[in-house]
Amino acid sequence: MAELYAVIGGSGLYTLDEQFEIETARQIQTPYGSTSAELQIGDWQGHRVVFLPRHGASHQIPPHKINYRANLWALQSIGVSHIIAANAVGGIDPRYQPLALGLPDQIIDYTSNREHTFFDGESGEVEHVDFTRPYSQPLREAIMRAASKGHIDLIDGGTYGCTNGPRLETAAEIKKFRIDGCSIVGMTGMPEAALARELGLEYASIVLVVNWCAGIEDKAITMDEITKVLNQGVDTIRQLVSDTLSRIDQ
Ligand code: HPA
Repeated sequence: MAELYAVIGGSGLYTLDEQFEIETARQIQTPYGSTSAELQIGDWQGHRVVFLPRHGASHQIPPHKINYRANLWALQSIGVSHIIAANAVGGIDPRYQPLALGLPDQIIDYTSNREHTFFDGESGEVEHVDFTRPYSQPLREAIMRAASKGHIDLIDGGTYGCTNGPRLETAAEIKKFRIDGCSIVGMTGMPEAALARELGLEYASIVLVVNWCAGIEDKAITMDEITKVLNQGVDTIRQLVSDTLSRIDQ
């Protein structure tokens, strides 16, 4: 089957860009309910792409209320084979400073009470997928190559700690996450990555650091500061995704 790429946009990434020619915008009904928004399917600079904004078209869905199962199921149902996800995160590791872009290679899941599996026993099927390496290495490598060719700074590797949100963390939580080995902390990386794996989809996440995590600086974290960095960094994510797609199609 031909490869079909989807982009799941996170905070700040609600559309691709003006060059995305949307052919159809489809609301897909799934056994798990509705997706975050219509799936936009079209041509982006010569590549067939599906775009889905994870938080909804106008960022109305908080991280813990996103219907991750519907989103992933719907993408697979229309033939998507590869997913490049964009996620905003806070930085713990000094390399992961605000505005940095990274490509994590590990995850620690601190979420709870999210519908996190397709194998919940309801269908009579129980499976335990391998998740030793939670992200697709071939897709990560394709993104790293595109970054290097396009002279985009991209940190190769790091552990993404996923919290429930929507509140940010306490300073003590971040101290603990650092000891656990987290480089960055976000709220949307899981169960998305695990569900992609359960469906056999190639999945990688590009993270944009939008703040230092709680307690790293001696001041409160403000939404103003986060929004400013998001707006500054989001075009580089678009550029990197676009570069990755053009190199893959060649
Ligand atoms: N913590 C968790 N999620 C986040 C953060 C953070 O500091 N910044 C952006 N998403």
